[in-house]
Amino acid sequence: MLVLENVHKSLGGKEILRGVNLEVRDGETVVIIGQSGTGKSVTLKNIIGLLKPDKGRIIIDGTDVTDFNEKKYSEVRRKFGVLFQSGALINWMNIEDNIALPLREHTRMNPDQVRAKVDEKLALLNLLDARHKMPSEVSGGMRKRAGLARAIILDPKIILYDEPTSGLDPVMSSQINELIMRMQKVLGVTSVVVTHDMESAYMIADRIAMLFEGRIIECGTREEIRNSSNPIVRQFVEGLTSGPITGA
Ligand SMILES: Nc1ncnc2c1ncn2[C@@H]1O[C@H](COP(=O)(O)OP(=O)(O)OP(=O)(O)O)[C@@H](O)[C@H]1O
Ligand SMILES: [Mg+2]
Repeated sequence: MLVLENVHKSLGGKEILRGVNLEVRDGETVVIIGQSGTGKSVTLKNIIGLLKPDKGRIIIDGTDVTDFNEKKYSEVRRKFGVLFQSGALINWMNIEDNIALPLREHTRMNPDQVRAKVDEKLALLNLLDARHKMPSEVSGGMRKRAGLARAIILDPKIILYDEPTSGLDPVMSSQINELIMRMQKVLGVTSVVVTHDMESAYMIADRIAMLFEGRIIECGTREEIRNSSNPIVRQFVEGLTSGPITGA
């Protein structure tokens, strides 16, 4: 289980997270929604220790990791697969080597084993033709899928996805959504997914949490969110131009 307890974080002199509380149970997919710039990516970075909370606690599988130093946190991070919003590929390595990187860093697999594992993920994400290309030579959607392939290459127990479907065409988005669901069902993966894409949220989420002004203002099942009586949640999920978010 993954727990965020009263997490506060200021950046650039601004209070971004103002007491985030969230519990993600084992095997569950929780989708975090919220406006652009509200702190969704910052929340994920606090979970994986790339940013440290100013106040509050992060508890992973019962261990309080908040004050872990870099060395200890890097152990924790091995439990995670992370798809960064940008894809975060290394621009001087081809797609195949980017995807293989965690295997080369964290396992003792021989080159044949590495290749077999990479092939499996390339095929899964429809990237076989792109294997020898550099990140700058492929489309944004391919970079996103390569980032996803790298995120899942170590078969992690917990996967954090930052905007997995943004910049993808509708067919590819559906395929990514199905992949996220399949990993939950087949491998029992625990997932935290950040997205603006309500269609995707309704498809994959066990629970949806809305971040607003630095706090989770509501967390519930798809039905609970769809039928929320909170006007802020309603405006967001219905994509209305007027309402409390826009102050109109
Ligand atoms: N390293 C940083 N230094 C200073 N400010 C930062 C830093 N990282 C994020 N911020 C600020 O924190 C706020 C939240 O950023 P964050 O990237 O978490 O937004 P988001 O909810 O993920 O938005 P989007 O949906 O556009 O990705 C923004 O105002 C951003 O400018
Ligand atoms: Mg973001």
